[in-house]
Amino acid sequence: MAFKERVFSGMQPTGSLHLGNYLGAMVQWIEMQKTHECIYCVVDLHAITVWQDPKELKNAIRQVTAAYIASGLDPKKSIVFNQSQVAAHAELAWVFNCVARLGWLNRMTQFKEKAGKDRENASVGLYAYPNLMAADILAYQATHVPVGEDQKQHLELARDIAQKFNNDFREQIVEAGYEDGILFPQPEPVITGPATRVMSLRDGTKKMSKSEPSDMSRINLMDDTDVIADKIKRAKTDMESAPPSNLDELKARPEIDNLVGIYAALAGTSKEAGLQMLIDTSKEGPSIFTGFKKALTEVAVEKLGPIRAEIVRLMGDPAEIDRILADGSARARAIATPIMNQVKDVVGFVRS
Ligand code: TYM
Repeated sequence: MAFKERVFSGMQPTGSLHLGNYLGAMVQWIEMQKTHECIYCVVDLHAITVWQDPKELKNAIRQVTAAYIASGLDPKKSIVFNQSQVAAHAELAWVFNCVARLGWLNRMTQFKEKAGKDRENASVGLYAYPNLMAADILAYQATHVPVGEDQKQHLELARDIAQKFNNDFREQIVEAGYEDGILFPQPEPVITGPATRVMSLRDGTKKMSKSEPSDMSRINLMDDTDVIADKIKRAKTDMESAPPSNLDELKARPEIDNLVGIYAALAGTSKEAGLQMLIDTSKEGPSIFTGFKKALTEVAVEKLGPIRAEIVRLMGDPAEIDRILADGSARARAIATPIMNQVKDVVGFVRS
């Protein structure tokens, strides 16, 4: 069966969203909303794979929802909801816990990074995290998943799970009316744009992340103009006396490469044009980066300022955010429940 094109993606409500989330994923979400049926989730079940203070979690769920809308998602057009409110996510994740193999999960680099040395003490949920992510996508038979580069391995796992499920239950899937025996599509990762991997402002070899202890390493959507300016001013560069003269040279200088990528993404231009801007402003001094950083600050404030103001405005009316989530959850449930019922039939559960 040819599946209807459907987009699914999500972000964790663990602290404030940052520029990596915005450029790596959100910009694509907004673009795809113009052409596709889209489902955008606040993945609160994923958030609790590491400890979350319950009061802060509630606030973070609302704030991420507000950030989605403030960035340009239209909750009337796209479905915007929080994961815990649609039971199919957890139900399908359990089925997938029984489909995915330990060997597959053992290869997941994100678990290794997040669990660190104290692996014995990591939650079982953190380990099974990618199975829940596969369930998020496949509960809607979604075909396209816009994400940053760090999610690529998880999406490959989702594809493997879809395929194994289809193989394991082929006969029953055909009986359920899917002539070609395919209940789950192979979801396509959509990893595009000039900033699919935004790096830390303090270390060009590490990705920008919510879990990095230093707040100076990232620009948060909630940072005000002064904070943005200060973070960019203090962003690490290097000691070279001249700017890179071409893209190959730029690549060899990770911190500069990152700043140029961020500039290009925010200004809606190419990396070449960003590099040219750096070259053109390098004589302004005192450092070769002074002029470039000023331009980067301007474009960051211009793009992020209105988003921050809108998040603050929306957060002033939490009841309205809750209404948006309730509406989104109902619409999400309407899609996922019949698919989940088919899964239950196919697996051999008696439904009552
Ligand atoms: P999360 O919450 O860590 O990040 C949300 C999105 O932001 C992207 N991203 C970045 N992109 C570029 N540079 C960065 N430094 C950067 N940091 C984060 C992520 O790639 C992601 O697209 N497991 C997911 C959430 C999830 C999900 C899903 C995504 C749960 N279920 C189903 C897609 C489909 C996560 O933790 O994202």
